[in-house]
Amino acid sequence: MWDMLLTDCHAATMTAGGAPYGLIRGAAIAIDGERIAWIGKARDLPQAPARETHRLDDALVTPGLIDCHTHLVFGGNRAREWEARLAGASYEEIAAKGGGIVSTVHATRAASEAELAESAAQRAAALAGAGVTTAEIKSGYGLDVQTECKILRAAAAAGEKAHVRVMRTLLGAHVVPPEYQNNRARYVDLVCHEMIPTVARDRLADAVDVFCDTIAFTVAEAERIFAAAMAHELAVKMHAGQLSDQGAAALAGKYRALSADHLEHVSDEGIAAMAAAGTVAVLLPCAWYFLGAGRKPPIPALRKAGVRIAVATDCNPGTSPVLSPLMAMNMACTSFGLTPEEALAGMTRNAAAALGLQAETGTLEAGKSADLAVWKISNPAELAYWMGAPLLRERYLRGRSV
Ligand code: NIG
Ligand code: FE
Repeated sequence: MWDMLLTDCHAATMTAGGAPYGLIRGAAIAIDGERIAWIGKARDLPQAPARETHRLDDALVTPGLIDCHTHLVFGGNRAREWEARLAGASYEEIAAKGGGIVSTVHATRAASEAELAESAAQRAAALAGAGVTTAEIKSGYGLDVQTECKILRAAAAAGEKAHVRVMRTLLGAHVVPPEYQNNRARYVDLVCHEMIPTVARDRLADAVDVFCDTIAFTVAEAERIFAAAMAHELAVKMHAGQLSDQGAAALAGKYRALSADHLEHVSDEGIAAMAAAGTVAVLLPCAWYFLGAGRKPPIPALRKAGVRIAVATDCNPGTSPVLSPLMAMNMACTSFGLTPEEALAGMTRNAAAALGLQAETGTLEAGKSADLAVWKISNPAELAYWMGAPLLRERYLRGRSV
């Protein structure tokens, strides 16, 4: 006997290669413990009884959404900086004057762990209310060992409070902090020899990210950090090509990074390296929009090379104060030209791959974690179509309604 049976629904399984969206009309989903035990057409159900049966009134069920790139833990906000940008200052100019990421670093260092956990939990709850069951959260607003660890602990606490599976990424290499401005190499040493070993020892993160760009780290510095991460058996990821092409995507491919993210500026060689390594391209259309809608990522070239494409909110105070995964999907379609099916794959199957979770979640398949979103719509294209509509009806994380 199954623990739970969901019937009278349509399931967009998001498995690749079959019907669009992997759609099963008239579906039933059986759950045992934390896992999907069976999914298919209700009329093919191999056994009927279950401890609990939920009839879903023809609702659409998808995998729980996965927001695979966020900076949810931070102190303060940057509305003032945004006003300055609207009045003509550029993101890079503000950063050069000690504003930007560094101003959030000051606010985050000043905040207590409990305060950070609470504000991040509210943001995680907003994502959850829009169907998210898994979110990646990066550090990167501490830039010293103690504060980076504080952020990563707060990230775990936020996920527990909001009932969201959280994958944590150390972004100690977000920018060079003010106290190392005249000695970048020593900061990179700190990241490699203190931050990464501490985070690995205390199991505070699953991966290490580097912001490789003009206002942040060079490719050579990123390579040192990747080598240190790999020596500690942490996966690597990269903020690549957001403001300029430094060759970051090619390095991401060389180190078999899980993902390279942003990619507004990326060469054909970078794309080829990502394709060869299976590195996922994570598109962040809300950050692109909020920074002024400049150059777009080369979607046709990514498709042609066979690079898997994910979509995320990039929620952060400087470039993407966005807590709506469906808005990110909408923008990925309207601004970058993804199909609604690609956008949903980008927030489910491919987002799971960007976090190394493809065996665990991201599609509706027997054996995977029962992470589901139940929606008040029947056509999956509507997820990327409506803007700002409260479409979620219910959410399951690891087999439990949350
Ligand atoms: O993904 N690119 C670097 N990191 C963030 C921006 C962070 C900030 O401005 O606070 C991003 O856009
Ligand atoms: Fe980011």
